[in-house]
Amino acid sequence: METLNKYRLLTDNFIDNLSKENIVPKKFKEALFYTPKSGGKRIRALLTFSSAEMFNADIDKVVFVAAAIELIHAYSLIHDDLPAMDNDDFRRGKPSNHKVFGEDMAILAGDGLNTHAFNVIADSPLMPEQKIEIIKHLSKAAGIYGMVNGQAADILSSGADVGKNQQKKLVNFIHKHKTAKLIQSSVVCGALCGRNIKDTDFNKISKYGLYIGVAFQIIDDCLDIVGDEKLLGKKKVDEINNTLTYPKIYGLERSYKMAEVLKNMAFNEIKDMKKSENLINIAKLVVERKQ
Ligand code: IPE
Ligand code: IPE
Ligand code: MG
Ligand code: MG
Ligand code: MG
Repeated sequence: METLNKYRLLTDNFIDNLSKENIVPKKFKEALFYTPKSGGKRIRALLTFSSAEMFNADIDKVVFVAAAIELIHAYSLIHDDLPAMDNDDFRRGKPSNHKVFGEDMAILAGDGLNTHAFNVIADSPLMPEQKIEIIKHLSKAAGIYGMVNGQAADILSSGADVGKNQQKKLVNFIHKHKTAKLIQSSVVCGALCGRNIKDTDFNKISKYGLYIGVAFQIIDDCLDIVGDEKLLGKKKVDEINNTLTYPKIYGLERSYKMAEVLKNMAFNEIKDMKKSENLINIAKLVVERKQ
């Protein structure tokens, strides 16, 4: 756990330094860094570091990728909270970005973070081939085949008139795309910072990432029912928005069990790999978390 704290600190410091760059207008700059600097669990960054370490990557270089993924994640949260999306007034224990800076600046802050994340990776000291592979994977996972696609499916599904069986397929599609693909990419991009990765290992950590990614969103759905808003730092809005969630379809108890099954599937993929302790610990955190 000490290592995870170190990784968290490295990410926070990197984002902190980024926010010292000279950007005007002042209000735009404030909107840009308000959400990335308001904490969060940094799970995605921790995954990137932990996976990178398994493939003997240089931590000083990995931080560029870990922080870039957190910037993309922060952008997704800013846009997710907008009135046209989930209309959530709170995020990370503070008023949401648009509540402080207005919808116009919040949209632009999200756009800015999304674009700049790729600049951070391109400007990193990693090897050119590594950067291309990372950018290729991440842009797909965050974009039209991943997170953005899932968010679109999530919005379109709210209140949609579909049968129970169709709903089960749909919610799995949504969770895989809106959340799991970016989480998976965090693990994969960490590995891509390393050297001599065997295809078999690559496939294993890739599956691990997808499984814990879906589990992560199932638990997020459960916490939207049983969680403490203060701890979560956000409002519970799924019911108001008629969002398609696992507990809505399967009930709380089965949803928790499904997350547990996914965690065990993730364990099975990586348990025989060297230096997988951090990934094992993160998988536990994902399922046991209260925030
Ligand atoms: C929230 O993600 C959005 C989802 C994909 C469920 P996190 O729960 O990782 O949010 P932070 O980064 O800790 O605030
Ligand atoms: C959001 O899912 C996933 C994103 C890509 C941001 P949610 O809408 O459930 O996330 P929270 O609960 O607002 O953090
Ligand atoms: Mg949402
Ligand atoms: Mg939301
Ligand atoms: Mg949620």
